[in-house]
Amino acid sequence: MALERTLSIIKPDAVAKNVIGAIVNRFETAGLRIVGQKMMHLSKEQAEGFYAEHKERPFFAALVEFMTSGPIVVMALEGEDAVRKNREIMGATNPQEAAAGTLRADFAETIDENAVHGSDAVESAAREIAYFFSDEEVCARTR
Ligand code: TYD
Ligand code: MG
Repeated sequence: MALERTLSIIKPDAVAKNVIGAIVNRFETAGLRIVGQKMMHLSKEQAEGFYAEHKERPFFAALVEFMTSGPIVVMALEGEDAVRKNREIMGATNPQEAAAGTLRADFAETIDENAVHGSDAVESAAREIAYFFSDEEVCARTR
């Protein structure tokens, strides 16, 4: 299994619920390491650029509105099989369909405000990490 990096976002709803630490704890408990982390309040342009792949979808405007509604925490996570592992910890996009014990089951109620983002592939992870972090802001974990 390869050492991978993936992008995680704690979305505005979860930051507002004051569960940043609880979410980070799930990643660390699963063996993922934080190699980059910062709090941001996205502009409309930043949110639109990040979710550009969805720009023709009916939910796009609402998604951008939500993602700019308050601060978020963006993280680069590193670990074996990190992309798939993060998606497993997150649960299904729709919290109503998310497996018990996943972040979206525990911290979200609706698909439009679903607590966390996670990259869906190694290639998108690299693009998404570079979207938010400079090279110097991602730190190799040597111990
Ligand atoms: P998507 O990439 O399909 O889901 P995921 O976050 O699990 O990778 O969609 C991106 C976000 O768009 C999703 O987290 C929430 C929002 N969204 C909606 O609001 N309604 C929808 O019907 C879908 C599919 C997504
Ligand atoms: Mg996605």
